[in-house]
Amino acid sequence: MTFQKRILCIGAGYVGGPTMAMIAHKCPDCRVTVVDINPERIAAWNSDDLPIYEPGLDKLIAATRGRNLFFSTDIEAGIRDNEIIFVSVNTPTKTFGLGAGMAADLQYWEKTARQILEFSESSKIVIEKSTLPVKTALAMERILNCRENGIRFDVLSNPEFLAEGTAISDLESPDRILIGSRETPSGLKARETLVEIYAEWVPREKIIASNIWSSELSKLVANAFLAQRISSINAISALCEKAEADVTEVARAVGMDTRIGPRFLNASIGFGGSCFAKDILNLVYLCRHYGLDEVADYWESVVHINRYQQERFIRNMLGAMFNTLAGKKICLWGFAFKANTGDTRESPAIFIARRLLEERAEVVVSDPKALKNARADLAGTEGSIAFIGDPVRAAKGCHAVAILTEWDLYRNLDFGKIFKTMAQPAFLFDGRNVLDHRRCFDIGFNVYPIGKPPLTHF
Ligand code: UDX
Ligand code: UDX
Repeated sequence: MTFQKRILCIGAGYVGGPTMAMIAHKCPDCRVTVVDINPERIAAWNSDDLPIYEPGLDKLIAATRGRNLFFSTDIEAGIRDNEIIFVSVNTPTKTFGLGAGMAADLQYWEKTARQILEFSESSKIVIEKSTLPVKTALAMERILNCRENGIRFDVLSNPEFLAEGTAISDLESPDRILIGSRETPSGLKARETLVEIYAEWVPREKIIASNIWSSELSKLVANAFLAQRISSINAISALCEKAEADVTEVARAVGMDTRIGPRFLNASIGFGGSCFAKDILNLVYLCRHYGLDEVADYWESVVHINRYQQERFIRNMLGAMFNTLAGKKICLWGFAFKANTGDTRESPAIFIARRLLEERAEVVVSDPKALKNARADLAGTEGSIAFIGDPVRAAKGCHAVAILTEWDLYRNLDFGKIFKTMAQPAFLFDGRNVLDHRRCFDIGFNVYPIGKPPLTHF
């Protein structure tokens, strides 16, 4: 079969894998190849045990893999043989040198740009899928177009807005597709090529174009706004606990204002995930770089509140459990940074588990999908840690259960049975406000939700 377009994606991660599976599914006349430097990841994509858990992903892969979707480690051939190249390698927060802890580490991205330059034998469209600091495309253009050999590279910015756990539906019905390009004839032509791909399934009016810097910046700003809403409601949750107000009721009342809207107003132990903290810190770093200290401080406070909320959760546990956790067994339900994913990157559960161990508590971790990652995250941490998949068995003999991820399965457990197997008095700390608190209280638990008065038997 001859394919109309040949697409490559470099980086077979949480973004690259599902995004390319969707493009392959919706564009049967495109041949899509995903490459990665990590052979184990590629082997997993080629097996029945996919490297990431995402509802609906396995079906999509089964329908496309081997037909017009291919996973490979041959980056050189991939670059040579494809004319449209998405780059979705990771861009973590820098851990060294200038900007450590704030700026994006662009070494993988730049290394990839140099590989593209080295192995290309014809002109290409290079698409930034990774989240990058504004103006990265300029550096890329300079690297890619440094040789005068007739090969041309057009760089586009096409940020990904999918959220983990709902990646497949987000990809299938996106709120918008954003494509940033140069306003030159070849930039506009490259943009049109990418528009044609998305237009196979996304309504044209949802495919929006912008200049390339606006596009790069929009991704950072979208994540910053979403995270800001969570920090805003979490800040209010602290006040609710003091003022005997109920944060769920406040969020409902506030969110019904159509100017505000109801989403992303769930108070929690704080946001996690590979994007929010990284992207805000990146934004903060950019603002400081341009001398905009007030703007930087404003956005940095979103991250400060997030850390404060996690520490507050530990302090509430300590206060409720008679100011000592030493020797007490605490069960954590959920380790993933949100439900429906096995991903634990930047999960608040990591901080909370470590803090509990510092307090010399014994920690039992339970999660339906994230235990493998949890083990890796806590490897080398001192103290007593056990990993048990079944939440009921995990809670047995514990003094407290703390809910850290809003997995549906926790809502409908037999709490009467669980209560009887726990050490007394038994505590429930609901870091996601997912349980029926009154029912748990009536069973005998001392219940501590987020942003609501506790229900205790003392
Ligand atoms: C993505 C985006 O790319 C990132 O910028 C965004 O902010 C978060 O989402 P994600 O897909 O979640 O990252 O990252 P990850 O799952 O770590 O995947 C990146 C992949 O790129 C890894 O499989 C890694 O092996 C691969 N990689 C990295 C390369 O193939 N080449 C490199 O040089 C570096
Ligand atoms: C986010 C963005 O939503 C997505 O558009 C972008 O492309 C990548 O970053 P993701 O991190 O996968 O996606 O998940 P998201 O649903 O945004 O949740 C992030 C964190 O916020 C999770 O820890 C979640 O539990 C938390 N959260 C979310 C809350 O605490 N309260 C809420 O109301 C919503």
